[in-house]
Amino acid sequence: MKTFVVFGILLAGLFAVDSYVARVDETRTFAEGDAADKTVVDVVQGLGLSTLAMLVERAGLVSTLKGKGPFTVFGPTDDAFLQLPLNVRQALLLNNTLLTDVLTYHVVGSSVFSKDISQGKLVPSLYAKTNIRFNTYPIGETPMVVTATGAPINLKQVDQNATNGVVHVLERVMFPVPENDLVTVAKAVPELSDLVDALVKTKLDKALTGDGPFTVFAPTNAAFSKVPKNLTVDDLTGILKYHVVDTNLPTVYSAGLQNNQKVLTLNTTDITVKIDGGHVELVDSTKVPGRVITPDVSVTNGVVHVIDKVLIPPKPSN
Ligand SMILES: *[C@@H]1O[C@H](CO)[C@@H](O)[C@H](O)[C@H]1NC(C)=O
Ligand SMILES: *[C@@H]1O[C@H](CO)[C@@H](O)[C@H](O)[C@H]1NC(C)=O
Ligand SMILES: *[C@@H]1O[C@H](CO)[C@@H](O)[C@H](O)[C@H]1NC(C)=O
Ligand SMILES: *[C@@H]1O[C@H](CO)[C@@H](O)[C@H](O)[C@H]1NC(C)=O
Repeated sequence: MKTFVVFGILLAGLFAVDSYVARVDETRTFAEGDAADKTVVDVVQGLGLSTLAMLVERAGLVSTLKGKGPFTVFGPTDDAFLQLPLNVRQALLLNNTLLTDVLTYHVVGSSVFSKDISQGKLVPSLYAKTNIRFNTYPIGETPMVVTATGAPINLKQVDQNATNGVVHVLERVMFPVPENDLVTVAKAVPELSDLVDALVKTKLDKALTGDGPFTVFAPTNAAFSKVPKNLTVDDLTGILKYHVVDTNLPTVYSAGLQNNQKVLTLNTTDITVKIDGGHVELVDSTKVPGRVITPDVSVTNGVVHVIDKVLIPPKPSN
């Protein structure tokens, strides 16, 4: 009896393989050349994005992505997935909702070619229409660094065309997926409660829930504990504005930073960026640098970088 069942399964398996081969042959006859019969799923596999291919299958998204489209897939490399913290990688494998949210955030339900990507552009993803934010930074060789929600796009592997869309390769995973505006996100992080209190006290919280885009350097409670408690509201406002990048500038993701770069803030004075062995430090008027602890926390209206020091703006000269 047992043998019979196993045999039955084997047979069923053989039939499945048979019909798959038949189907592949059929498409081959109708389509000229390889590119013509490749969906975005096949292109992802063809580009060697095997972790992404595995996760797409695990999340049950293969049939969707073999559908009509058009889809634009921002496909992280295997190495990009390995760069995620271990607990995030584990969570992606354990929590299918999280996995689906992250993967659908990497897909757009329309065709976006590299020529359509420009500074500050927002394009809704398949994840609850949450926007992907594009930025371009004039760094190094031409063209430049181009990011999708902070994740650098491999400019040598863009516009990989499929029958139902196009794939662009990402050198990082767009994670975390922006879920809320920056004040709402900060309120949910216990380590940032002093910052939130200060924003409320100075009424800057209202402004920072707006469209932005904002880049905020967010000092932890440990950082705030080293600041005198008797600051006037005006002093505190000046200090907090020194933690917000001038809103006329594009969103500043870490991929867009260079060593010795000066970043203009809403205090109308600069912070100097120091990059040393992958660590990003910010130099204020005290010359004692603050260190970026958690970079690139994407929010719906910009990005937050968590830092370990409250930065002190220069005293006005007059
Ligand atoms: C799984 O992920 C979703 C989406 O991020 C989250 O809301 C939910 O709490 C997670 N579930 C568990 C058990 O962690
Ligand atoms: C993909 O298609 C677009 C639009 O038709 C085209 O501009 C691009 O050159 C194609 N990419 C490749 C690699 O052929
Ligand atoms: C705040 O307290 C410090 C000493 O702890 C003092 O030097 C400073 O003048 C005070 N500043 C204000 C605005 O009261
Ligand atoms: C910048 O910060 C300094 C020091 O706190 C303050 O005196 C000045 O008013 C601030 N300027 C702006 C535009 O916020």
